[in-house]
Formats: sequence, structure tokens, C-alpha cells
Amino acid sequence: MKFHILTFGCQMNVGDSDWIRRSLLAADWKESGEDDADVFIVNTCSVREKPEQKVYSLLGRLARHVARRPAVFVAVGGCVAQQVGETLFQRFPFVRLVFGADGVANAPSAIMRLASESGTRISLLDFTDRYPERAAAFVDDALTAQAFVNIMQGCDNYCAYCIVPFVRGRQKSRSSDEVVAECREFAARGVKEITLLGQNVNSFGLDTAGDGTSFAQLLERIAAIPGIMRLRFTTSHPKDLSDDVISAFGRLSNLSSALHLPLQSGSDHVLKKMGRRYTIATYLEKVRKLREARPDIALTTDIIVGFPTETEDDFRETVEVVQTVGFAGSYSFMYCDRPGTAASRLDSKVEDEVKARRLAELQAVQEKLTQTHLCQAVGTRQRVLVEGASSNKDGSLAAWRGRDEYGRVVNFTCSSSADMTGSICDVDILEAKKHSLWGKAV
Ligand code: SAH
Ligand code: SF4
Ligand code: F3S
Repeated sequence: MKFHILTFGCQMNVGDSDWIRRSLLAADWKESGEDDADVFIVNTCSVREKPEQKVYSLLGRLARHVARRPAVFVAVGGCVAQQVGETLFQRFPFVRLVFGADGVANAPSAIMRLASESGTRISLLDFTDRYPERAAAFVDDALTAQAFVNIMQGCDNYCAYCIVPFVRGRQKSRSSDEVVAECREFAARGVKEITLLGQNVNSFGLDTAGDGTSFAQLLERIAAIPGIMRLRFTTSHPKDLSDDVISAFGRLSNLSSALHLPLQSGSDHVLKKMGRRYTIATYLEKVRKLREARPDIALTTDIIVGFPTETEDDFRETVEVVQTVGFAGSYSFMYCDRPGTAASRLDSKVEDEVKARRLAELQAVQEKLTQTHLCQAVGTRQRVLVEGASSNKDGSLAAWRGRDEYGRVVNFTCSSSADMTGSICDVDILEAKKHSLWGKAV
């Protein structure tokens, strides 16, 4: 059987899709392009703007393949599946599996069962009390030098704008021994970089499913595994970023010098309405401590513009904080209502044109900061974990693409003709482009 996976949303979805992919490959299924697939797996996201409509139009497009080959079916997973659930069965006869985050562990076996039982449909939408452990799926050919490892599921924060707690369920930490065992297995198979995933990794272990290990202790255990050259984690909620985790950046040399620390707004009044439970003063204090522990740390962030009640002054404060911190990069979004959230019930919504203007202004500020961050690399030597061949070919020299310690994309040439994918290369940085660096392997 052949499958094709389409993934939307955050890195947790990317990680889930990757595990499903490895599980099917382990069962001798083959990955294929759209035209040949017997089964489509669509992993959806519902965090912003009209996500349900996007899924419906995608399914409309996939219907063409079913019209040509009636045995083709679709499995819809992720946060839109959790939200709209079995209504997908009513609207799309070829959707035969729906699964939410806690259903991922059983999705591959359900897909295999559906392939041999025509007419059956399966729904895996229940939330579980514990983190549902997944079967091992280590297919060496399907591994790259980088791997994602889940450390928790769900979120308890209920930020006023956010749908995630509704579609991903309550926070439940995975057992630290299971996390460490999975990291060890990846490292033993040649994985060099591990990214720990959770909606709020800093509160690992603090829920009832926790086993008493804190996030800082978990980092120590994983950083000590031989072969792990780079350790990253996402996402961090600033309110839960503890001094122990901050000081880990000073102690653990393989902890990557990059941290994504979502700010959301630079105004205390807006942060309060968002239910973020930190102030700008405490956020900036954590940034100061992070830079004390790791002076060159690259900070990136998420920002929402036009949250209900946001005034022009509030927005100016956001621009100011972005400049003060000097983020290396940021993702910024126009606020949009999501069903069931507290913010969707607030009055004083900001007009679309105002949101669009604020977003454009913020993004222009960020472009300059990103340029500064990239330019600082010119003339330095960086260690690059090579992800694959680069599309920028330079004459007869092979060109490669990877990321440096700070998460910057580096394209570089190399005189050797060997396949560099998965290796760590020292690269002299020659030039800063708009969103990446250009260099030459040493
Ligand atoms: N757990 C992570 C990521 C959550 S979703 C965290 O806490 O940071 C990713 C980003 O989408 C959020 O950080 C936020 O900036 C944005 N976002 C979430 N809901 C949104 C909404 N209703 N409108 C606009 N942006 C939103
Ligand atoms: Fe959403 Fe807030 Fe949870 Fe992040 S911490 S997933 S923004 S509720
Ligand atoms: Fe999207 Fe769900 Fe992730 S809503 S951002 S896929 S947790």
C-alpha cells in the first residue's frame, strides 16, 4: 500500500506525522506522491483563520483521486479533526478515519485495518488521562540527523485567544524514563539533534501525570546522552521558564543557543487580558538572565497584533519591546476569533485595516532586526548541521543547506563531492541574504 501525508500546523503535528510515517514504513507500506497514493493522511491545525474551510477545500481536491480510484481513502487527524470530528464522515464519504492528538498512537494500526476492511470507519477522538505511549517505529532508512520527541500532550493555560487547550486536551506529561529511552534510541541510530516538543515544555512534570522530574532535570538527563550534539525544545511559556532551565543554558554545552519565547504583546494591559500571567518587566528580566547564562543566545518570538482592546499605545509598546529585546526572528499574526475562547466573547474588537497596518509595521521592524542578526554572522565560522542539498547551486561545487547553532539557515558550497546530509560541517560565513546565510565549508 502507498500513503501520502499532508501536514499543517505546529511542530507537534510535524512530529506526529513523522511517527505515523515511520510506523507505516515499518509495516512495509511505501510513501508516494499524491497521484499514486492509496491512503491520504491529512494532519490539520485549527489555531488561526478559517482552518476548517481550508481542510474542506483540501478534501474537495482529494475527492478527484477518489473519483479516479474508488478504493482511495483519507484519514484526517490533528486539531481540526478533534474540533469537527465525525461531521467529516457525513460530508466526505471517503474520509474513513478521524483522529485527535490522543488518537495518534492508534492511527497507524487503524489505517492498516481500514485498508483491508472496506466500508469500515474509525473515530479516535477521545482524550486520555495519561500520555498515550506510542509503539517504537525506528526505521533506519527513514531517520534523519534530526528528530522530534514529545514530552507532553495538551495545555492547561487557556490563554484567552487560543483554541489549543480545547482541541489538544489537558496537559499530561510523559514519563521522563520513556522520553529519555526514546532519545537514547534515536542517538544510538545516529540522530544528532533532538527537539523536545510540548505546548508548554517549561511546565513538564507539574501536572498530575508527571513523575516528579522537572523540565530542567529532564534537560540534564537528555544532554548527557552520548551522541546528542544539539538539544532544542519548544514551546516555552515565559511564566514557567524557571531559573533552573535558564541556568541550563550556562551548564549544558549541547543545549542549542536558540530559544523561542512567545511574547504575544508588549503591553501589560493586553497581556493581562490575554491571561498570559507575566508582565513585560518579568519577561525582560528572564531575557536578561538568559543572556547572562548564554550571552549569544538567539531569541525568537510570537506576537499577536490587534487583540481585542489593543490601542495604538499598546501596539507602540509591543514595537518597543521587540526592539529592546532585538529578536532574531518572530512570527506575527493578526488576532482572529476562535470558537469557545474567552477573547472571542470580548467586545472592542480591532478593525481589520488597523490590524493589517500594525502587522505590516511590526514585520518591517522585525525584518531589520533579522538582517542585523544575519549580518553579525558574516566573517565568522559556524557549525552547520546539514539538512540536504541546497537549491542555490554555485558553479561546479556542490551546495548544501543546513542550520547553525542559532537556528539560522546556511547555504554553503563544499569542494568534496560526498553526500554531506546529516553531517556537522564548519562553514565560513561569507554573506548575509534576506533570510539566510551563504558560506563555504572549511
Ligand atoms: N503553545 C505555543 C503555541 C501556540 S499557537 C505557545 O504557547 O506559544 C502558536 C501561536 O499562534 C501563538 O503563540 C500565537 O501567537 C498564535 N495564535 C494563537 N491563537 C491565535 C489567534 N486566535 N489569533 C491570532 N494568533 C493566534
Ligand atoms: Fe495556547 Fe497559551 Fe497553551 Fe500556548 S500556552 S497553547 S498560546 S493556551
Ligand atoms: Fe495548530 Fe493544533 Fe498545533 S491548533 S498549532 S496543530 S496544537
